Amino acid sequence: MTARIIDGKALSAAIKADVAQRVVQLKKQGITPGLAVVLVGEDPASHVYVRNKAAACEKAGLYSRVVRLAADVPEEQLLNTVRELNADSTIHGILVQLPLPSHMNAARVIETIAAEKDVDGFHISNAGLLMTGQPLFRPCTPYGIMKMLESENAVLRGAEAVVVGASNIVGKPMAMLLLAAGATVTLCNSKTRDLGAQTRRADVLVVATGKPEMITGEMIKPGAIVIDVGINRKADGKLTGDVQFESASQVAGAITPVPGGVGPMTIAMLLVNTLEAAERCAE
Ligand code: GUN
Repeated sequence: MTARIIDGKALSAAIKADVAQRVVQLKKQGITPGLAVVLVGEDPASHVYVRNKAAACEKAGLYSRVVRLAADVPEEQLLNTVRELNADSTIHGILVQLPLPSHMNAARVIETIAAEKDVDGFHISNAGLLMTGQPLFRPCTPYGIMKMLESENAVLRGAEAVVVGASNIVGKPMAMLLLAAGATVTLCNSKTRDLGAQTRRADVLVVATGKPEMITGEMIKPGAIVIDVGINRKADGKLTGDVQFESASQVAGAITPVPGGVGPMTIAMLLVNTLEAAERCAE
């Protein structure tokens, strides 16, 4: 069997085009959705991500502002920057790019973002709303994955969903969204015994571990939908996911590629969350 490729680039382009249309409507009411991205330090990957986020905003007609702070900035100065953005009515979404330098308390920084501007969905109040089935913002990567599953017409009610990786950013909110959609969810972590026994039960398998190619074809149920969140650089410079694409695509029914799978969806959903934050201001 050769798996269908789930084209995240095409799906994200369609979502961004829809956002652009809704932005036009909102502008007629005098509101331009605005996203502020705060970037602390010099992490090269973070710089690329932030540049891509700002470019995607501008392309869809949103206003974007990038606030760059030095790696050694005192935490209090970062908190004050966030407080100013909370009070700024031209800004509807605030995102502090992670990881932060080690002298900072990321949880405290995230909790300082106004929950109604927390377009990442990382604030504890947004995590709690998601967990209790009344989400305000869904974290962008899991939200994008739900859109991919929707585009595949995946039946989630009663399905076995296995999520590998239990981070606050991807694994845990992913589990909550799949659960809300009626799946039976198993959330695996680095201590899980016999990971293959878990993953082989999955009708829907989501992998977000940051470990290159750790999931191989023999760990996948024939016909499963496989979503690979990983993006890792190999010794030869090429990008690869957390799933070994060659072997997995022989067994899976559908699979996301790396690059061109989940990555583009994350940015598209950030635009959706920012737009919806601005739309709520118009209500
Ligand atoms: N770093 C890696 N992914 C993300 C994300 O989705 N949001 C933020 N703020 N930082 C990240």
